[in-house]
Amino acid sequence: MSTTTSEPGSKATADATLQEQARRHLWMHFTRMGEYGDEHEIPIIVRGEGCYVYDEHGKRYLDGLASLFCTQLGHGRADLVQAGAEQAKELGYFSSWSYTHPRAIELATRVAELAPGDLNRVFFTNSGSEAVEAALKLARQYHRVMGHPHKHKIIARQIAYHGTTFGALTATGVTDYRAPFEPLLSGVSHVPNTNMYRFPADHDPLELAEAVAERIEFEGPDTVAAVIMEPVQNAGGCLLPPEGYFERIREICDEYDVLLISDEVICSWGRLGTYFGSQAIGYQPDIITTAKGITSAYAPMGAMIASDRVAEPFMHGSNTFLHGSTWGGHPVVAAIALANLDAFENEHVLDHVAANAAAFRGMLDSLRDLPIVGDVRGMGYFYAIELVRDKETKETFSHEEAETLLRGYLSGEMFSRGLICRSDDRGDPVVQLSPPLIAGPEQFAEIEAVLRPVLEEAGRRMRLA
Ligand SMILES: Cc1ncc(COP(=O)(O)O)c(C=O)c1O
Repeated sequence: MSTTTSEPGSKATADATLQEQARRHLWMHFTRMGEYGDEHEIPIIVRGEGCYVYDEHGKRYLDGLASLFCTQLGHGRADLVQAGAEQAKELGYFSSWSYTHPRAIELATRVAELAPGDLNRVFFTNSGSEAVEAALKLARQYHRVMGHPHKHKIIARQIAYHGTTFGALTATGVTDYRAPFEPLLSGVSHVPNTNMYRFPADHDPLELAEAVAERIEFEGPDTVAAVIMEPVQNAGGCLLPPEGYFERIREICDEYDVLLISDEVICSWGRLGTYFGSQAIGYQPDIITTAKGITSAYAPMGAMIASDRVAEPFMHGSNTFLHGSTWGGHPVVAAIALANLDAFENEHVLDHVAANAAAFRGMLDSLRDLPIVGDVRGMGYFYAIELVRDKETKETFSHEEAETLLRGYLSGEMFSRGLICRSDDRGDPVVQLSPPLIAGPEQFAEIEAVLRPVLEEAGRRMRLA
């Protein structure tokens, strides 16, 4: 049937516009599909170059979120994909099940060289969720192989996002994301995150680390397998750990024989200024999960990196980590990841972040004079601005106000002014910025030129002084 309607039962045809086809057939992720229609178009991004992308009407946007924290080298790097094309000519695919190929070996070696301490064993996945899934399963099987079959529980943090597959979702501490799918897996509990902006001034911040020890005691140390945390927690708005927090978490994990999983799906590959976020904060995980920037988003890939200690029991006799996927370590993707890491080195990407991070922070800090800006926090090229009703009291907005503010005004207004960033209310309302790592003063000035008037107007609309 030839029709361009988006009504159920109809089919859009090849000669319908992309808008019409998208409205009829595409199911976007974490997206209120019902909000799109004649009044409100689906944004269709058709092209990218450096820090900028262009929509189907030719309008340019600054990619202030590195898409989803992953286009580290920016857009338009056909050379990275060319490395994949060359690889495809040689060997398009072979699996990681009982076989391997040169690119997976080279990439594993390269990642292990860059990873902190004795994190030397690399297990490739296709996404961040799958990396988290692999880490949670490894933690359980590791303790089983070590003769502690009851150590299976996981401790995560409130409001943290660890992905959407069932294990990763169970570790996720965002109630709204969990509720539709309950009951989730058993044995996962959540402790407070490190929201220092709202932490009572008369308390010791290290109580937040002690909460992990208390939770392990409560669950029973013989039942706890792992703790999973991000170096800087994304959901909630770039929540930094207080001084000494991870040092104490490391001690607690050692004391109770609990593995420390550092979920660096966002916080690796230069996002915090170092290859891995745990290096920027200064702690040694037992397992790192990563994805996103490992290919600068030119192909999907994730990885779980395990320490020698954790991997060792699986390197003997018939012991096998009983986990895998068809695409994990795909040669074309591995070749793209290797080309990405070559570019990181040859183009001195981490040096660029180091040289420019203070200017990025300075620009964001300059917005603190606005009545709606309560806090600016983050590190490297990963920042959040927390929006408040009252700066003095730190009073936040009600759920309805946050909805009006973020969805009803901020997101749309920033986008229409050519800035893509994230306004988020999984915790208290924040605007997040995480540009490609090649961004510099020119892009920071453009971000400010949009943020300042938009946040000023947001304050007026919420009737702030
Ligand atoms: C910390 C963290 N872990 C896991 C994930 C899930 O990654 P993916 O979307 O690639 O499955 C994300 C995604 O943003 C993340 O931020």
